[in-house]
Amino acid sequence: MAEHDHKLIHAFGALAELGQEITNKNNFQETIRTSLHLISGALGIMRGAVARFSRFGHELNMLAIRGLGDDFPLSLSLTLEDERQFLSCGLTPIDIQQAKVLPFFQVYDASFERRGLELFVPLVVRDEIVGAIFLGEKATGEAYTNYEKEIVCAMGQHIGVAIAQRNLMAEIERHANENRQLFDEMRSTYHDTVKAFAAAIDCKDKYTEGHSVRVGKFSEIIAMELGWGKDEVEGAAVAGYLHDVGKLTVERKIINAPYRINAKESKELNGHPGVGYEILQPIHHPYTDVPLAAKYHHERLDGRGYPDGLYDREIPYIAKIVTLADSFDAMTTDRPYKARRPAKEVVEDLQRNAGKQFAPELVTAFLGGMLKELQGQDKTKRFRRLLGRDYMEAEGIVDTLKYTLNEMAPTTPMTYVAAAGQVIL
Ligand SMILES: [Fe+2]
Ligand SMILES: [Fe+2]
Repeated sequence: MAEHDHKLIHAFGALAELGQEITNKNNFQETIRTSLHLISGALGIMRGAVARFSRFGHELNMLAIRGLGDDFPLSLSLTLEDERQFLSCGLTPIDIQQAKVLPFFQVYDASFERRGLELFVPLVVRDEIVGAIFLGEKATGEAYTNYEKEIVCAMGQHIGVAIAQRNLMAEIERHANENRQLFDEMRSTYHDTVKAFAAAIDCKDKYTEGHSVRVGKFSEIIAMELGWGKDEVEGAAVAGYLHDVGKLTVERKIINAPYRINAKESKELNGHPGVGYEILQPIHHPYTDVPLAAKYHHERLDGRGYPDGLYDREIPYIAKIVTLADSFDAMTTDRPYKARRPAKEVVEDLQRNAGKQFAPELVTAFLGGMLKELQGQDKTKRFRRLLGRDYMEAEGIVDTLKYTLNEMAPTTPMTYVAAAGQVIL
C-alpha cells in the first residue's frame, strides 16, 4: 500500500473516532482533549491546542493544550478586526507564517514562533466563530499538504459543532434558570398576596381571628392527605385562604354580631359566597379553581346548602375540601355565641355528617392525617400548631379516631360479595 493511502486510511479512522467521541455525552473538556489527541496522532503533530471563543470577552480560551509548555497563554484576545477576518475566512486553515498582516498574528508572533505553531484554523459554525485550533509543525518537519489541511478542516468541523452544541446547552440552561427564578419569585409574590388578603378578611371578623388562614392550612392538609401534587396542594391552600373573600363587602356589625342575626342580616351574610366568586372570577389562579371554592363552600352533599342547593356530584371537589376545612375550624374555635367543642365531639360530628354535609372520603383523609400525627407517624405537628397541644391530646381522642376511621372504612368488594351471598341464601 502506498504511503499516501496508508496515511489516508489512518486519518479517516481518526476522523470516524472523533465523530464518535464528539457524539458521546461525556465530559466536554475530556472530549476536546481527546479530539486534539486524535488530530495530533492522525497527522503526526507534536504540539497543538484547541480553544473556545468567548463572544463576551472577545477572546480565545484554551480548552486543551498539547506540548506547548506551561507558559503558553491560556487566553488570547481578539480585536473586532481579527474576528471579522476569521469569519470571512470561514473554516480554512491559515498558515501562520503567511498571515502576519493580521493584528492577531502580529501581537502573538513571538509566542507562536517560539513554539513552532504553523497552522491556525478558525472554527466557524453557522456564521459564528466558536473557537480555533492551533497546530505545530509535523514531526517529520515537512510542510502540511493540501490533503492534510482538508483532514484538519474535516476534524475542525466536528470540534466546532461540539463547541457550538455546548454553547447552546449553556444558553438553554441559563434561560431555564432565569425562568425558574422568575417563576419562584412570582409564586412567592402570589402566595404573599393571597396571605395578605386572608389576613385582611380575618381582620373584619374579630371573633374568628385567623379563620381564613386556618381554613387555608386545613385545606392544605386535606389535599396532602389525598396525595395531591405540590402545585395542587398549594392551590387547595389558596382556595382556603380566599374562601370568605366575599365577606369584605358584608357590614362589619353583621359579621361581628354577638347574637343570632335576623333574616335580613342573614341574607346579606349568605351572599358572601356569590360576592367572593365575583371578586375572584377575573383573576387567573394557577393550579385550582379558587373562585368555585369560594362560591360553593356552603353547599352540602344532601342539597341543603346555599347559595344554589347543589347535590353531591354537582359540587366542585375543591369546594368540598374547603367546606370541610371551614366547618372544622368553626367547630374548633370559640364563636361569640358558642364555645369551641371538644375534639372527640368534633370527630363524631364529622362522622355523623359524612355523606350529608361532607364528602366521606375527605373526612377519612382528614381524620387519618390527625391520627397519624397523634401516633407519631407524622412529625410535622400540623394539627397541634393549629389547635393547641392540650386540645389535640385530649383523653380518648386516639381511640375515638381509630374507632371512627374503622367505622367509616369503605366496605371491600369481598365483604360486599359475601354480604350479597347471605341475602340470596
Ligand atoms: Fe363562608
Ligand atoms: Fe369561612
